[in-house]
Amino acid sequence: MTAPPPDDLDTLADRIGRQLVDAADRRQGAWRTPVLSTLTPDGPSARVIVVRSVDADACALEIFTDARSAKVSEIAADPRVALTFWDPQTSEQLRMTAEAKAVTDPARIADRWQAIGAAGQALYDRDPGRFLVLEVEWTAWDWLWIGGEPHRRATFTWTPQGRREAAWTAP
Ligand SMILES: Cc1cc2nc3c(=O)[nH]c(=O)nc-3n(C[C@H](O)[C@H](O)[C@H](O)COP(=O)(O)O)c2cc1C
Repeated sequence: MTAPPPDDLDTLADRIGRQLVDAADRRQGAWRTPVLSTLTPDGPSARVIVVRSVDADACALEIFTDARSAKVSEIAADPRVALTFWDPQTSEQLRMTAEAKAVTDPARIADRWQAIGAAGQALYDRDPGRFLVLEVEWTAWDWLWIGGEPHRRATFTWTPQGRREAAWTAP
């Protein structure tokens, strides 16, 4: 049994946004390492990644990866992705529908390269050409809490104009 979530959907959405920001900032917590799913010609492909930063107001987050990894070419061919988060401490799952793209702004990439420091850069053989920043913009959340009875599930979708719509849903 975990603390029941708020009854108000706006309060809940704000809380989920804060949890995402905190998970990225605190460098710990289960929501920092979700599963990223991409589409390939052979079907879906899924892997664990680290969420490096979250801007909840912009509905955006960042992932760092190796430019040569399969996910990069998969996203270039089809930007539609899903992120799946699970936190056993709070009993919350978050399924995120999103689009991803490689960041091209050299200043932003240079900033992130500096920020990961020597240990992070070593993962890329200290070659900044191998370091790629993915920007992921979400358009929908499917949130589920199983910490008590009844379970709670809510969906949040963002219109192209950025307006958020929310509903409780079941099962
Ligand atoms: C805890 C954990 C964190 C990971 N973080 C990242 C990450 O931030 N970026 C990344 O590209 N791969 C990360 N990986 C490795 C990926 O899961 C995957 O093996 C790798 O990126 C190759 O995937 P791809 O060939 O489908 O592109 C992580 C793996 C684990 C287990």
